[in-house]
Amino acid sequence: MGVGFSDNIVDEIKSRCNIVDVIGRHVPLKKSGSNHKGVCPFHNEKTPSFVVSETKQIFTCFGCGATGDVIEFVQRYNNLDFNEAVEKLAGEYGIEIKQSNTHGEKERAVLYELNREAAAYFYRCFTKAPNPGFDYMKKRGIEPAILRKFGIGYADGEWDSLLQYFKNKGTDIETLLELGLISNSSGKYYDKYRDRVIFPIINTRGKVIGFGGRILGDGAPKYLNSPESPIFFKKNNLYGLNLTRQDINKENYVILVEGYMDVISLYQHGVRNVSASLGTALTENQAAMLKRYTDHVILSYDADTAGQAAALRGLDILHKSGCKVKVLQVTDGKDPDEFIKKNGKDEFLQLVQKAMPYAEYKIHLLKQRVDLHTTEGSVQFLQEAAQILKELSPVEADVYIQKIAKETKISEGAIRLEIYGNNNTENIRKHNTPDIHEGNHTHGIEINMGTATALEKNLIKLMLLKSNYVPRIKPFEWIFKSPAAYKIYELIFSVYKDDEEIDIKKVEDSLESEDNWVLNDIIENIHLADKEEQVFQDCIHRIEESRTEKREQEIIKILSILDDENDQGKIEELTIELMEIQKAKNKERR
Ligand code: GTP
Ligand code: MN
Repeated sequence: MGVGFSDNIVDEIKSRCNIVDVIGRHVPLKKSGSNHKGVCPFHNEKTPSFVVSETKQIFTCFGCGATGDVIEFVQRYNNLDFNEAVEKLAGEYGIEIKQSNTHGEKERAVLYELNREAAAYFYRCFTKAPNPGFDYMKKRGIEPAILRKFGIGYADGEWDSLLQYFKNKGTDIETLLELGLISNSSGKYYDKYRDRVIFPIINTRGKVIGFGGRILGDGAPKYLNSPESPIFFKKNNLYGLNLTRQDINKENYVILVEGYMDVISLYQHGVRNVSASLGTALTENQAAMLKRYTDHVILSYDADTAGQAAALRGLDILHKSGCKVKVLQVTDGKDPDEFIKKNGKDEFLQLVQKAMPYAEYKIHLLKQRVDLHTTEGSVQFLQEAAQILKELSPVEADVYIQKIAKETKISEGAIRLEIYGNNNTENIRKHNTPDIHEGNHTHGIEINMGTATALEKNLIKLMLLKSNYVPRIKPFEWIFKSPAAYKIYELIFSVYKDDEEIDIKKVEDSLESEDNWVLNDIIENIHLADKEEQVFQDCIHRIEESRTEKREQEIIKILSILDDENDQGKIEELTIELMEIQKAKNKERR
């Protein structure tokens, strides 16, 4: 039901669902002045700093800064998206959301119900009496409590157990065929799952949408999965998310694995922020689903080449969807399940720590493919690495450029040239003093590398290329914190005249030699590839991000000091500002 609700419904919810009642059901609240106070459910604390305002219908935590209205509380507390929270509140308060159930929805409700019954049937077979399925899972080391949690079941070896069960209930067989629970061969119906362990696939709304059935031991096919149906779209689904999304949200990263058993095994060992793509190529929809809980993804696919190839594809999809992706490679065993069984949680978390970021992983693979000892190999490496780094923002790319230069002995200048081309360095070269990188070259670079940040360098380069950036950068001059960068900025600003390009010679002449090296480094090595405006916007964006971040921390600090009896006005004012900041941040994240 992924549609938006009308404003009416949202307004009605906000007016009918008193925030004090809704929160009061989960958090013991005490009246304090005109507000209610309690222990914050969103962070650990002993003294209550969680305040609910009945008049404003908002909550605020002075400890962790959490704040919002009743819908946002339900979202956060239960880890729901906006629509889900609205539905939940509407359900609890008897608010009618939609009058008519369309035909499609009714039909889907029937399918959900049959899947639920089938899952319950398999679950009973698995739990009520000894059976080979249970023995198999036990042998694989999964504890009964975890098996229960995931609703694991067993389909016995008969041809018609499930069929008979549903026949007795008078269920329409065609519908079972549609769900892939029953098969049909020349007019004869029989159970599709026989002598298999059953993994119900449950969506984030708690509905059973499909099944995976594993053979006991070796044999083919290893897994039988439900076909697509009106309630099961493989590309829209991730296994385990129904149980793990809270943990994913809390840890603010997800470990994405390939198989059912990886999810269950990691979960049992206490790594609960996990989910599986179930062997299909990752899709944009799945990336979007994850982004509801976090945008940090760690891909932990099988160690075999198929797994690594799948990781590589998933990597690009996630990167394009705006996730920050890293790749984890298990060093012992063929998949995360085997690794954690052998080595335990702590060692697995060490692998998480060591996971390689997107670009680093791609360059790592590239290095394995080419021979850097040959000229051809180096050229190929340079070309392909440039393609990878092109996709990063200049500020991000900078880090890798320095690293690659160190590791491969290809000069930074050459790498930058390959990435950004040569087009906009020409007019600057003319003004330039002799190339300091010639002769004693590594020294010149390394000494000065740390003396200006990538952000500062990009801003300076912008002003040198086009002087109309000088007045535009002026409001952000406080960003120039490193001494050399600040001096260069000051000089540029002092020689700047309307409608004239910056006289670089003048700037150089007034700089001391150390600072001049920094300027030279910028002129030589920062290439904006005719994307000045994009780079400018990128820089401003970063500056503003760090500014609001600072303000947010500041407000949280002030709020924690203010006395809620005496400073009521100030508190409300700051709370609203905090709310705005966090709302804007959330919007951006989406
Ligand atoms: P175990 O061998 O039980 O540890 O399986 P696993 O969970 O580690 O799965 P594996 O890495 O072998 O495969 C990853 C995922 O791909 C599985 O969880 C299935 O969803 C899917 N898959 C594996 N084998 C098959 C198969 O034979 N047919 C189909 N349709 N899917 C499969
Ligand atoms: Mn496995």
